[in-house]
Amino acid sequence: MARVLLAFASQEGHTERISHHVARKLEDLEHVVRLINLTNHDGEAGADDCDASLLAGSVHRGCFAMELSSFLMRHGPAIRSHASAFLPVSLSAASHNQCEIDAVGEIADRFLFEAGWHPDYVEHVAGAVQDRQLNMVEKVVMHSILHQHGEEADPSGDTVLTNWEKLDRFVKKFAARL
Ligand SMILES: Cc1cc2nc3c(=O)[nH]c(=O)nc-3n(C[C@H](O)[C@H](O)[C@H](O)COP(=O)(O)O)c2cc1C
Repeated sequence: MARVLLAFASQEGHTERISHHVARKLEDLEHVVRLINLTNHDGEAGADDCDASLLAGSVHRGCFAMELSSFLMRHGPAIRSHASAFLPVSLSAASHNQCEIDAVGEIADRFLFEAGWHPDYVEHVAGAVQDRQLNMVEKVVMHSILHQHGEEADPSGDTVLTNWEKLDRFVKKFAARL
C-alpha cells in the first residue's frame, strides 16, 4: 500500500473528473490517495509524507494553470524525490493530426522544463468540451475544433473524448511501480 498525492488544476471540471477516476482506480488497488484541488486552493498539504505523486492539469490557450507551477515550486523537492507522473489534459491529445499531438507534447515539455521536473511518466489525456462552462465564443471555437477532429458535439452538452480504458492501463502501469 502506497500513499499517493494527486494534485490537479481544472478550469471547466473535466480534469477534476479524470483525477477522481484515477484516485478511485488507485484506491481499488489498495493505495491511499490524497486528492488536492489546486484550482480551489485546497489546503497546503504537500508530498513530503507520500510515496508517489501525480499532477494533472488542463491546457488552455497553450498553457497550464499557474496553480500547477506554483505547487511545483513549493513542493518540487518532495515530488522529485519519489515516483511521479504528469497528466496533461487537452483536446489536442484526441487529434488525429500528428502536428497537433506534437504541439501539445511541446507545451508539456516546456512546462516541465520550466518547472525543473522530470516525472517518470507523462501521460497525455484527451479532454472534454462542456458547453455549460463556456461562453458563446468559446463554445463555437470548441465545437469547430471537435469538428476538425472528426467528432460532433454531444447533444447533452458534455462531449467527452477521454479514452478511459487507456487511462486505466496507465494507472495500472504507474501502480505497478509503487
Ligand atoms: C478557452 C479554452 C482554451 C483551450 N485551449 C486549448 C489549447 O490551447 N490546446 C488544447 O489542446 N486544448 C485546449 N482547450 C481544451 C481543454 O484543454 C479541454 O477542454 C480540457 O478538457 C479542459 O479541462 P478542464 O475542464 O479540467 O479545464 C481549451 C479549452 C478552452 C475552453
